Amino acid sequence: MNNEPNEHSTAGNQSKQSRRDFLGKGLGLTASAVALTAGVPMPSHAANLTAKEAPRPRPASDAPRMLGALEVSPIGLGCMSMSSGSYNPPRSKAEMIPVIRGAVDLGVTFFDTAEVYGPFTNEELVGEALAPVRDQVVIASKFGFSFGGGRRGGRNSQPDHIRTAVEGMLRRLQTDRIDLLYLHRVDPNVPIEDVAGTVKDLIAEGKALHFGLSEASPATIRRAHAVQPVAALQSEYSLWWREPETKTFPTLQELGIGFVPFSPLGKGFLTGKIDTTTAFAKGDFRNVVPRFSEENREANQAMVNLLKKIADEKGATPAQIALAWILAQQPWIAPIPGTTKRHRLEENTAAAEVALTDEDLRAIEEAAAQIEVQGARYPESSERMIDY
Ligand SMILES: NC(=O)c1ccc[n+]([C@@H]2O[C@H](COP(=O)([O-])OP(=O)(O)OC[C@H]3O[C@@H](n4cnc5c(N)ncnc54)[C@H](OP(=O)(O)O)[C@@H]3O)[C@@H](O)[C@H]2O)c1
Repeated sequence: MNNEPNEHSTAGNQSKQSRRDFLGKGLGLTASAVALTAGVPMPSHAANLTAKEAPRPRPASDAPRMLGALEVSPIGLGCMSMSSGSYNPPRSKAEMIPVIRGAVDLGVTFFDTAEVYGPFTNEELVGEALAPVRDQVVIASKFGFSFGGGRRGGRNSQPDHIRTAVEGMLRRLQTDRIDLLYLHRVDPNVPIEDVAGTVKDLIAEGKALHFGLSEASPATIRRAHAVQPVAALQSEYSLWWREPETKTFPTLQELGIGFVPFSPLGKGFLTGKIDTTTAFAKGDFRNVVPRFSEENREANQAMVNLLKKIADEKGATPAQIALAWILAQQPWIAPIPGTTKRHRLEENTAAAEVALTDEDLRAIEEAAAQIEVQGARYPESSERMIDY
């Protein structure tokens, strides 16, 4: 397994049409359930109400979202598992390049990678896949670790190391600028002001366009933002990991920083495709995540059941409800679900057109409040790298 420590230790009208086809045909939606022609799905139970009485749908839309001053598609593509070995063996470029290019065809403009995925091979894959459309897409990548002998070492945010890392990233990504350059994990040995100052210089040189942080605390975000405005924070967020709502959202809102939820499908669990009988392959990171123990999977099935219920009502899939729920939380959120499969990419991307009404959101909130998710989201070795 070639994993990230904390994550893991050991265009256009035609594309909109494709998503609508997927929602309308693939999911068998009725006209009253989803008013797709108007671009705003309407729940079937609202069909008989007057306009005044009907619950207000949250504006489901594939309109771009803003992360600070950076415009991205509402749903991006997390490319990690294509190369990292986190959830499946690394896939070949021949298999994955069509998936990444297929995302572009579906209107996805936001692609997420990192030095540590592979390491390095995921950036190479993303760079090659996106080279023909480089100017139409946003590439986000992350630095923050040392490497030796093809393996990840410890956290390293020394300014010289950042500069060297970025040169390698640019080369592998086949580009002259990284649209969104994140610090992957805060290095306790380097003041965040030094990191932000280095990124500020890289931005002045045109090698990076926007600055991001991952799993950083509000205090760190504020200190970094004072030196170089932060466009986005990337942290885990989904219906079964909601800590950012209280930990960081107030700070992000105040400072005008966007939020990029990683593992928005709960590492696959929230899609309903994993249960107590699922056997993870040797090397799958989920083998060491307490939340995925057989016992906890059984307890946590309640959250999947909730998503399935709402999905059935809306003629959508649990994965789509999980993503639509995230999109409805704030206008400055753009999740990056990961998949190695074209059909799931279509399913996930189509979630941007699933509208949840205020009533739906309230019902989810009330039901979710009754569910106590069991098990830590990370093993201790990964948890230790989180900045609190
Ligand atoms: N900053 C960080 O520290 C950090 C940490 C973790 C991840 N990330 C980023 O966030 C991205 C997404 O996170 P993630 O990959 O951990 O978790 P995720 O997106 O929550 O889940 C990915 C898993 O769900 C499966 N899946 C995807 N869509 C599905 C669907 N519609 N139905 C059923 N299964 C589905 C995928 O399997 P298949 O491939 O078989 O579809 C994969 O195993 C990563 O790619 C990476 O770019 C960042």
